[in-house]
Amino acid sequence: MVDFKYFTPTEVAFGKDSESHLADLVRKYGGTKVLIHYGGGSVVRSGLLDSVKAKLDAAGIAWVELGGVVPNPRLSLAHEGISLCRAEGVDFLLAVGGGSVIDSCKVIGYGMHYDGDVWDIYDGKYVPKACTPLGVVLTIPAAGSEMSDSAVITKDDGMVKRGYSNDLCRPKFAIMNPVRTFTLPPYQTAAGVTDMMMHTMERYFSHEDDMLLTDAVAEAVMRTVKQCGERVLDDPENYQLRAQIMWAGSLAHNDLTGCGSVWDFATHSIEHELSATYGATHGAGLAAIWPHWAEYVLAENPTRFAQFAVNVLDVPNDFKSPERTARAGIAAMVDFYHRIGMPANLPELIGRPATEEEIAEMAFKATHGKTITLGGLKKLGYDDVVAIYRMANRG
Ligand code: NZQ
Ligand code: ZN
Repeated sequence: MVDFKYFTPTEVAFGKDSESHLADLVRKYGGTKVLIHYGGGSVVRSGLLDSVKAKLDAAGIAWVELGGVVPNPRLSLAHEGISLCRAEGVDFLLAVGGGSVIDSCKVIGYGMHYDGDVWDIYDGKYVPKACTPLGVVLTIPAAGSEMSDSAVITKDDGMVKRGYSNDLCRPKFAIMNPVRTFTLPPYQTAAGVTDMMMHTMERYFSHEDDMLLTDAVAEAVMRTVKQCGERVLDDPENYQLRAQIMWAGSLAHNDLTGCGSVWDFATHSIEHELSATYGATHGAGLAAIWPHWAEYVLAENPTRFAQFAVNVLDVPNDFKSPERTARAGIAAMVDFYHRIGMPANLPELIGRPATEEEIAEMAFKATHGKTITLGGLKKLGYDDVVAIYRMANRG
């Protein structure tokens, strides 16, 4: 078990009545003029946006709004948000939506405190010193950004998608009402389930084998998400199932499930290029890559993959061969992805195989022009990433 710091400053209001705390929470964290940031319209259709505005009005808290965040959010809209917030004297950012809206808010928050282009942070040319405080009204459990230190954004020019992590951007509060997730389409529900499982899997597949407590927590989160995720697709308005999934989504990515391990996150980096290149939904892209990443790195720690297979996926333990158990686990994961309507390879994700040129370009971008390696369990360079895309291409 390696040394770790665990910092989870986000105040959570969870449940059917959680939205009633909104104005008090904005005030508590210093908000006097709020940017209400949202996506493409689901919060308009559900009435959530009007309800948020009414709550702020009733409390005498001023606000301006900026909608139009797209999935895999764009830097150009964040630039617009930074200018708007400066012009309007905004001192608090309120994300009403999912990971894309929250991340766009985080980038706006960094940009308000920096005179240069906020993309410099993603290019490694600037380390932020501050971020405008932000709160979240969550509508989709998936990215875990409501409690995470990470902000993922796509630069429109060249479609470069990158993440950056810093505690400065962790939200001050997150309001989570599972009822708001009843309207999620099945594909988004399944992609969210895939993403949150993966956030824990990225921390779980490690060379550290002595994390009894962290493993128990991680396996409970993954089992819960898997079981409830499958059932909720047939029963989308089941409050108990939606609630388990929503809370698991936050725990899966607030670092709790990774205390003491060396994290991997190669699958995430490899996936981000699929979102940037094909506009893939993040969770679906992860499902298309993970089985192939797992095959590629399995030999690094077969026992750990076997433990995952048995404790999370209920695969019978073949005590004579951890490798066989591990491979049965990967196959079980592919079955799970298919059962919930997720792809498990590139042709299933994008409707055709990727071309060799696309693979070369994605591997080049993922490794920042062949200058970095990805992952922790096995460090992957450009050639490894090409190999994994090719494996995913064969299906
Ligand atoms: O835009 P609207 O109309 O709101 O529709 C959204 C969007 O089309 C829809 N939706 C959200 N809540 C809904 C709903 N539809 C019906 N009913 C509701 N209650 O769902 C679609 C997807 O929304 P999005 O915010 O894009 O989803 P998600 O939360 O999965 O966020 C994905 C983004 O987060 C990044 C991903 O890379 C991607 O850019 N990630 C951020 C992380 C972080 N900051 O910690 C970690 C993750 O690994 C991930 O990389
Ligand atoms: Zn993710």
